[in-house]
Amino acid sequence: MIPTVAVTRYVTPLREGGSLPGIVEGDDLGTYVCKFRGAGQGVRVLVAEVVVGELARRIGLRTPTLVALDLDPEIARYEADEEVQDLLNASPGLNLGVDFLPGAFGFDGELPTGEGVASKVLWLDAFTANVDRSWRNPNLLFWHGDLWVIDHGAALYFHHAWPGGITDPARFANQPWSPDDHVLLSYAHDLPKADGEIRGLLDEHAFTEILALVPDSWLEPVPGAETPEALRAAYVRFLTARLGTSQWLPQDPAEAAAR
Ligand SMILES: Nc1ncnc2c1ncn2[C@@H]1O[C@H](COP(=O)(O)OP(=O)(O)OP(=O)(O)O)[C@@H](O)[C@H]1O
Ligand SMILES: [Mg+2]
Repeated sequence: MIPTVAVTRYVTPLREGGSLPGIVEGDDLGTYVCKFRGAGQGVRVLVAEVVVGELARRIGLRTPTLVALDLDPEIARYEADEEVQDLLNASPGLNLGVDFLPGAFGFDGELPTGEGVASKVLWLDAFTANVDRSWRNPNLLFWHGDLWVIDHGAALYFHHAWPGGITDPARFANQPWSPDDHVLLSYAHDLPKADGEIRGLLDEHAFTEILALVPDSWLEPVPGAETPEALRAAYVRFLTARLGTSQWLPQDPAEAAAR
């Protein structure tokens, strides 16, 4: 599992985030962006954050270290803001911690050159059906001269249908993905090369290792997968099925952007 860190202090809300993430301090003296399990979207978005974040890391992208933040609702007693108090009270146990990158700034249209980074990001978003990397909401940070990917809670949305019973992996495998709104569309010149490289790094075994990083308490039982292990296996089946197809990968995205 990702490492567990206890929250020692709630510092401030991160007002930009739609889900009211907050900055917290941990007992390892680290500073984290905390995504709360009690926020409206529920624990599945935290699963997506870990799975897609760790996929990003595996394929050579930079993304902040992820931890499980153990929150004692006692912390809420020191919080004046009622909305924040409610969120803390609704989030006892493990929440997602994203290592805070101090002084990072948002993507402004300039990319560091010559690394194929844009193609890798586009590949990741196509593979995981992530719709949250648009100009309006790039979810890319610049930090120490490098591009970092963040905020993957909107990916893997097939799992939001699971409360009605585990769905068919073949549907996700065959689901197209539109690159039209993607912020890096016109920079992704090496997609076939990225595709070849990345496919050499991922397989069922890699997916199994990634799912092992997800805390049990975020893997809520659904019909057809009643235990955390069964949930993990379902995610692995879905990812493996999608890796077995390639129609989700845009053809000539840079050309499409120029049109
Ligand atoms: N690890 C980090 N280090 C520094 N800044 C961060 C980090 N994570 C997030 N931020 C900042 O906070 C903003 C909101 O974070 P994030 O996008 O992860 O939250 P969200 O609630 O999913 O937001 P939204 O739904 O609005 O995209 C980011 O756009 C970025 O400016
Ligand atoms: Mg965001």
